[in-house]
Amino acid sequence: MKIEKVLIATTNKGKLKEFRKLFQELGIQILSLDNMTERIKVEEDRKTFLENAIKKAKEYGDFYKIPVVAEDAGLEVEALGNYPGVYSARFYSIDFGGVYQIEKSIDYTNNKKLLDLLKNKDNRKARFVSVVVFYSPEDFGLWTEGYCYGKIAEKPEGEKGFGYDPVFIPEGYQKTMAQFDLEEKNRISHRGKAVRKLMEKLKDLLS
Ligand code: IMP
Repeated sequence: MKIEKVLIATTNKGKLKEFRKLFQELGIQILSLDNMTERIKVEEDRKTFLENAIKKAKEYGDFYKIPVVAEDAGLEVEALGNYPGVYSARFYSIDFGGVYQIEKSIDYTNNKKLLDLLKNKDNRKARFVSVVVFYSPEDFGLWTEGYCYGKIAEKPEGEKGFGYDPVFIPEGYQKTMAQFDLEEKNRISHRGKAVRKLMEKLKDLLS
């Protein structure tokens, strides 16, 4: 079996940019949801990253009938009982530590809420989690995961990346993820790790 094209099932531009770079080396063409003329909406309403990623991969794969890579990712903060977790994208709006109105952007508001909740907290340990599912309708499906450990900064720094990058300092570094270039981020990130594991598994299966 030869895979020529995969659909990356995300509308998040930051994620898509990182996936594009990561898949380049495999010589597989990337399609995004923007390439699809007909659009379907898949709710991320499950309680775990894996269930959400499987749901997205299956629903898009069965609808478009092409291999799909779907990811569910997020930030887990130890002092917040691993919140925002699966609610990372819409943390500002959930009933945990107060509901925030969007100010400037969703990412800005999520980061503001997170920093407010951690004010005066000594334990700032956190990790990014990425669960990636590959699903080829009528062939097979597989999944991998990747983690990036670090801590939450006192204030946002940096303009690159997306989401919680400006407030996340990876272990062993003195700068936030938003101060990393794309390649550098992909080398150490949860997503980079999950995608590289996926490549290895796919290479084994497809060779
Ligand atoms: P989803 O996987 O599209 O449900 O959303 C993941 C959310 O987690 C994003 O909207 C971000 O807020 C956050 N997130 C996931 N990966 C990253 C990352 O690499 N950097 C910063 N934030 C991330």
